[in-house]
Amino acid sequence: MAATSAATVSIGSTVSFGSKASAISQSKSKPFGMRFNSHHSLRSFSGLKAATSVSCESESSFLGKEGTAALRDSCTAKAVKQNQRSWINLQPQASYKVAVLGAAGGIGQPLALLIKMSPLVSALHLYDIANVKGVAADLSHCNTPSQVLDFTGNAELGNSLKGVDVVVIPAGVPRKPGMTRDDLFNINAGIVKNLIEAVADNCPDAFIHIISNPVNSTVPIAAEVLKQKGVYDPKRLFGVTTLDVVRANTFVAQKKNLKLIDVDVPVVGGHAGITILPLLSKTKPSVSFTDEEVEELTVRIQNAGTEVVEAKAGAGSATLSMAYAAARFVESSLRALDGDGDVYECSYIQSELTELPFFASRIKIGKKGVEAVISSDLQGLTEYEEKALEALKPELKASIEKGLAFANKQTVTA
Ligand SMILES: NC(=O)c1ccc[n+]([C@@H]2O[C@H](COP(=O)([O-])OP(=O)(O)OC[C@H]3O[C@@H](n4cnc5c(N)ncnc54)[C@H](O)[C@@H]3O)[C@@H](O)[C@H]2O)c1
Repeated sequence: MAATSAATVSIGSTVSFGSKASAISQSKSKPFGMRFNSHHSLRSFSGLKAATSVSCESESSFLGKEGTAALRDSCTAKAVKQNQRSWINLQPQASYKVAVLGAAGGIGQPLALLIKMSPLVSALHLYDIANVKGVAADLSHCNTPSQVLDFTGNAELGNSLKGVDVVVIPAGVPRKPGMTRDDLFNINAGIVKNLIEAVADNCPDAFIHIISNPVNSTVPIAAEVLKQKGVYDPKRLFGVTTLDVVRANTFVAQKKNLKLIDVDVPVVGGHAGITILPLLSKTKPSVSFTDEEVEELTVRIQNAGTEVVEAKAGAGSATLSMAYAAARFVESSLRALDGDGDVYECSYIQSELTELPFFASRIKIGKKGVEAVISSDLQGLTEYEEKALEALKPELKASIEKGLAFANKQTVTA
């Protein structure tokens, strides 16, 4: 811990991420985490350690650029007022409300914890059909700015969504060994449909992040439901594919001995099996791969979810890495809402990039949602990538059509 002077302010948490925290920072344009170095350890606004000195070294992330600046200014002012007293009461400017639907689940709980650490969040609404009270009580003891509220069961769903800026949906069943994501369709399609109806009724302007699988179908279902409700804005509906990017970055960095924080691999297509297409030729920093490496990495990234499902041997699918990835996407969205003009992520959205109506690609996120689609990623592909792109289209098309057909044969409750 570097207590440089009593008037400097430390924010974030070294306790949770330790000195290796930079390893969690992989977003292309903005690292998700904070930049650490040995004497600029970020200390805990989250209260994991009392802050007696502060050194702001965060470029983005849990704190957000503006949040960091505001915090630093307010802390400095306070410090001056307090005549350089060493204790400073940290009060960052939290102003966004986030709802997590499915908050008591394997993803929901760690995701809620990570969102609770964001200084941009003023209220965290946790909704589930069961067991959410305890999760909320537990989280509410963390001394970060957001107020945690719990909502259980359909009768409380509407209230959980009122006034919310970002809704994250990890509700539904996960895979067991031997299952594909599509095997989850019969249960999760209905869950997503019901939840999106409530979103349409209660917070139609919110950013909607869909995690529930099969994402290739649940996002088209959500789009149809929102259309039927007359509130569809394609710019605000996102399928969360961040975990594919996180995995690609990790595996490429390991394979090529690169610093994790530097690596960015765009992943396009969809979020299941061969529809997950990492564009290794677009890796930053520029790096060359042998044909064998491309094949090995591509297949591993496509099957990484199954790797976890098999290792968990019936106890579910990826939850911690997924929570991490989803929190990164939430953080990016909040930064965009907060006016950061430099937020890029991959996401599965309504798209005109290919002939398919939904497609994952790199996008720029702004205050109103998707601001631009980065089409250049699909230009100058290698022969391997071109072939893989063509090969994924029939499967992705079928999943989209399955979702649309489901939504259109159901009646939406008015
Ligand atoms: N997008 C991705 O990259 C990705 C990665 C991993 C998992 N997933 C998907 O995320 C989903 C959740 O996975 P998990 O491991 O957290 O599962 P889980 O079973 O541990 O948790 C799911 C939670 O959803 C709740 N739930 C069920 N029906 C609900 C409803 N109608 N309303 C609100 N909540 C409801 C359950 O009570 C449970 O708490 C699965 O569909 C899984 O396939 C997606």
